Amino acid sequence: MTPAQSLLRSATGLNLSKAVVDRAIKNRMEQTGIGDAETYLQQMQPEELTALVELVVVPESWFYRDPQAFYAMSEFLRARLAADSGRLARILSIPCAGGEEPYSMAMVLTDAGIPPDNFMIDAFDISPTCVARAKSGIYGRNAFRAQDLSFRERHFSSAGDGDYRINDSIRKQVRFKQGNLLEFDLSARSGYYDVVFCRNLLIYFDKPTTKAAIAKLEALLADDGQLFAGYAEVPSFCQHGFAPLQYNQAFGLQKEAAAPHKPPRAARPPAKQVAPRAVKPAPTPAPVSRSRATPSRVAPAARPATDATAGANPAPAVDLLAEARRLADLGDIKAAERHCRDHLAQHPEAAEAYFILGLLNELTNKPKMAEDYWKRCIYLQPDHYEALCHLALLAEANQDASGAAALKARAARIYKRQQAS
Ligand SMILES: C[S@@+](CC[C@H](N)C(=O)[O-])C[C@H]1O[C@@H](n2cnc3c(N)ncnc32)[C@H](O)[C@@H]1O
Repeated sequence: MTPAQSLLRSATGLNLSKAVVDRAIKNRMEQTGIGDAETYLQQMQPEELTALVELVVVPESWFYRDPQAFYAMSEFLRARLAADSGRLARILSIPCAGGEEPYSMAMVLTDAGIPPDNFMIDAFDISPTCVARAKSGIYGRNAFRAQDLSFRERHFSSAGDGDYRINDSIRKQVRFKQGNLLEFDLSARSGYYDVVFCRNLLIYFDKPTTKAAIAKLEALLADDGQLFAGYAEVPSFCQHGFAPLQYNQAFGLQKEAAAPHKPPRAARPPAKQVAPRAVKPAPTPAPVSRSRATPSRVAPAARPATDATAGANPAPAVDLLAEARRLADLGDIKAAERHCRDHLAQHPEAAEAYFILGLLNELTNKPKMAEDYWKRCIYLQPDHYEALCHLALLAEANQDASGAAALKARAARIYKRQQAS
């Protein structure tokens, strides 16, 4: 690691490539008129470090990103407030990027009829530019990527030039502040929050930093609170004291001590990754799949049976995999495996079947077999995001830090590409 990489790593926790760091340094050297990288680094002042950090963060966000998380959070708080209507629900969004996530929370809670006096959202991001943008509350086209944009009519007004300004009634529900999760002062906030959103940050951290970040989040969250992560981050939380909640596509977790049943192994991925459970009711229609983040999930369903296989087996090919997931959830691993193999007999190149076989082997403590299946899966479908995430976790478990980092980076690139497409 170069001195510049380690400087930025200790300032942000981000696992940054040399190319990204070199580009940022070059940019700042041009801005500051310093011609030599060594001198630039030696003369580093806090304000200059902040400016450098701005160039390496990924402030990508949009309203209602992974919408099920917001609906799950709203249901959870509604039930809480129904039991104690005088209570103030405290919510944390870190990192909040340009405010899209915390404002989405405020909109969903408002639309669910929760009075403004009953909830308050704290939102932090390491980037002062992001925080300033969030406070301004003005957004362009990129922030509105959700399928259902009806919220824009209810909670925004035009700001000219195709931009929209969030209404004050929503804005006053969120307190924005610049802050680094890894340096969060816990003294006044231990167990403070009923809900914590920490999404799409840990994917950029290495293993020790992820562990440190999760320890901070664990301390901030009330013992009976709920935490929402990004999809690829759920397994890391499961490795560090959290248990997945049975929401579909919300990526919710609770402290393991609060969970009714402890999972058999700390590193076990959530069971819902084998078989998605029933979707909790949502005010707007839920997407059929986790959509662009995980196209692999829907791919088999979308693929029609070939002429050759249609006659040979009257059951649609996709049912075998759906049935495999259902059986796995019931604990019938052998039958689930049989269904995957039957599917493969008809579709030898079905990446999803290999992915499920990997999960089944991991569930039965055969990590090497699991690894082989997931490798086969990404060989057949190089952008299989979930398989890459599982392989990254396995690499971490095997102390292969650089392999894990490479897999995570590849998964993160795919994630970004799929979200953007
Ligand atoms: C991809 S955005 C995620 C925003 C939002 N949570 C979402 O999922 O849409 C990542 C954000 O993390 C912020 N960030 C990076 N390192 C951080 C740290 N150590 N503490 C707080 N925020 C950080 C970046 O500035 C960036 O805005």
